[in-house]
Amino acid sequence: MRVSIVGSGYVGTTIAACFADMGHDVVNVDIDEETVDAINDGRSPIHEPGLDDLLATHGGDALTATTDYEDILETDITFLALPTPSREDGSIDTSTIEAAAETLGDTLRTKDGDHVVVTKSTVIPTTTAETLAPILADASGKELGEDLHTAMNPEFLREGTAVKDFRNPDKVVFGTDDDTALDALYEVFAPLVESSDIPVVETGVEEAEMIKYANNAFLASKVSLINDIGNICKEYGVDAYEVADAIGLDERIGVRFLRSGLGWGGSCFPKDTKAIIHAANDAGYEPAVLEAAVDVNDRQPERLLSLLDDHVDVAGERVAVLGLSFKPGTDDVRNSRAIPVIEGLQKRGATVAAYDPVAAENIRAHFPDIEYSDSPEHALEGASACLVCTDWDEFAALDDEFDAMDKPVVVDGRRVIERRDGLTYEGLTW
Ligand code: UDX
Repeated sequence: MRVSIVGSGYVGTTIAACFADMGHDVVNVDIDEETVDAINDGRSPIHEPGLDDLLATHGGDALTATTDYEDILETDITFLALPTPSREDGSIDTSTIEAAAETLGDTLRTKDGDHVVVTKSTVIPTTTAETLAPILADASGKELGEDLHTAMNPEFLREGTAVKDFRNPDKVVFGTDDDTALDALYEVFAPLVESSDIPVVETGVEEAEMIKYANNAFLASKVSLINDIGNICKEYGVDAYEVADAIGLDERIGVRFLRSGLGWGGSCFPKDTKAIIHAANDAGYEPAVLEAAVDVNDRQPERLLSLLDDHVDVAGERVAVLGLSFKPGTDDVRNSRAIPVIEGLQKRGATVAAYDPVAAENIRAHFPDIEYSDSPEHALEGASACLVCTDWDEFAALDDEFDAMDKPVVVDGRRVIERRDGLTYEGLTW
């Protein structure tokens, strides 16, 4: 099938490469020339395992990138994979996807015959039908349900495992009440869903929009709930990980997303929880559990710092911060819990020595004046404390390196360091 994707961010590029790998002819449109050149040269514009190989195989061949919307005219279906960032007040900013819908509509004006447009971006319920579809119809002169067809197909890819997640999804969601759009979605996803037992959820457009928010709100709340429980555990000297392992055996609870600690960050959970809370408030509803989930998450960094305060006054002292990315396996620092932790250390007058295997450059804009060490060992040298913010595997192997510390106090936000003789060790929830 001839498929186009507008947006070459982490979702757009991943699905473009995966669709090409499934045998489709794919056009990926983006305004950024460097990104377009990278894709056509077979290089990944983002750090995502597996994407380099897919782009090396298909970039410039089955997958072509372009800045020109006209190339969409050669395709049958367009996915809008554009950012919907948070505004200052937590609501989502749909201006980029609206502008893209307008340009796409203008372009489609010259196309004879049907075209299907699918919202891939995360948007508040009713955005596709009440905002994007009318923009597309007005700009293209086409008629909805006649020669213009719309749908919503949310994406559940995780950073760091996006290609794997695309190939092995827990579900695929097709939200539309338009048969032509539904048939087109089945055709695009046929290579994935026909030979497997991946559940396909056929639903309405607004339900599909809400499924994405509900998915992320549920997972974020699950982590906040285990953090709440973990904080109680800590007060009673109970190991929250042993508790989580046991409750996870109950199939109704499940073992995943039960790692307590510093909480969630990244580009999705913080943005999506805020956006759906804001939308609920706009509609006159106070989602108390979700608000509490955000509140618990916001407090975890301060709990880590207060455990540190119990052991050492860090004013004027060197403190090692291990891990800067929002989770292991990525260089993304958006909403990383390391950010409030470092801010808290600076407020206390500490000198911060930070280390991360890949994310140091990305956090430099937040903290231009702290020391960036090239190894955990260098960060730990002469430090009066060490705070662990990301569960990178390599930190589990640290041992003699702690001997170089001035005072061997380790406060672990991710349960990655083992308790051992000679270390004053505090786990956040254990
Ligand atoms: C998430 C969703 O999982 C994905 O479906 C959606 O499309 C985008 O948002 P991602 O942000 O890449 O993906 O990260 P994820 O692996 O889900 O982790 C989110 C955050 O939760 C991370 O900060 C992680 O450290 C934290 N987390 C996760 C925990 O603190 N404990 C856990 O048990 C699991």
